[in-house]
Amino acid sequence: MSEVVIIDEIPCENGDGVIAKVTINRPDKLNALNQDVVNSLKEMCAWAEENDSVRCVIITGAGPNPPPEGKRAKPNAFVAGADITEFVGKGSNEILELFTDNAIEAIWNLSKPTIAMVDGFALGGGCEVACSCDIRIASTRAIFGTPEIKLGLIPGYGGTQRLVHLVGYGKAMEMMMTGNNVDAEEAYRLGIANQLYSPDELLERTLEIAQTIAGKSMHTLRVAKKTIRAALDNGLTEGVKIEAIAFANLFDTEDKEIGVQAFLNRGTPEWKHR
Ligand code: COA
Repeated sequence: MSEVVIIDEIPCENGDGVIAKVTINRPDKLNALNQDVVNSLKEMCAWAEENDSVRCVIITGAGPNPPPEGKRAKPNAFVAGADITEFVGKGSNEILELFTDNAIEAIWNLSKPTIAMVDGFALGGGCEVACSCDIRIASTRAIFGTPEIKLGLIPGYGGTQRLVHLVGYGKAMEMMMTGNNVDAEEAYRLGIANQLYSPDELLERTLEIAQTIAGKSMHTLRVAKKTIRAALDNGLTEGVKIEAIAFANLFDTEDKEIGVQAFLNRGTPEWKHR
């Protein structure tokens, strides 16, 4: 695809399809989102959506390169934000164009399950990439934050909206108004990170979760994702109605019959909608 976004296709344990591990690869710039990365992430989303073999997407950041002689190593990062050097000299029209229909929306709009695997800084746009995934699995050295206020800015990739749903109104206000970061433990307490693991365990554990998800019916996963999302855009009464229809419609699918029969016969379901 490109040098700044690397895709590894990891076979699913059930022998059908792959988990796409997507690595944002600018470690010398803490994987900051420049235009090249943003365009490549959008391409990746189009590829993942239309490629039937992709059953789950993991997004992560490349670890640091060995430092040159006598220099300090760069820190670990998921993504340390939008590339600030690309903000210089830009006006509202240009920014509006760049930030509309952006890569973060493309990740959010993927119908397939997405996991952010966060080891190090997830700041600004990095926090927003993580929040646009369905699940965040973090290492104990992960750091999340929305420091845009220090640049005279606010989040521009949906952070003001998505983070509120994860941490609640008050904490979102605090994070975005102070620009202070939260460490891994606090991120876990707040519900930003679903799970925390040591850096050594992070990949293995994240793959375990991805494999568990990838072993389910793709059709049912899509319906689950869409229905859970409805809770963000609708009130409870409307949301429950949406759920009732989605639930009922699943009774017309082969996979419901396969799943129920597998349970009753103590077998493993062989999903049709892979
Ligand atoms: N945009 C562009 N470059 C960035 C970047 C960003 N968001 N974040 C880090 N970098 C670059 C640094 O400029 C530096 O490049 P250089 O080595 O060529 O000078 C390199 O990545 C390493 O970062 P550095 O700042 O030296 O590491 P550090 O350990 O001292 O600090 C951070 C780490 C994350 C605290 C610091 O890099 C930082 O605050 N980054 C910006 C975070 C931010 O405001 N994000 C929101 C943007 S809207």
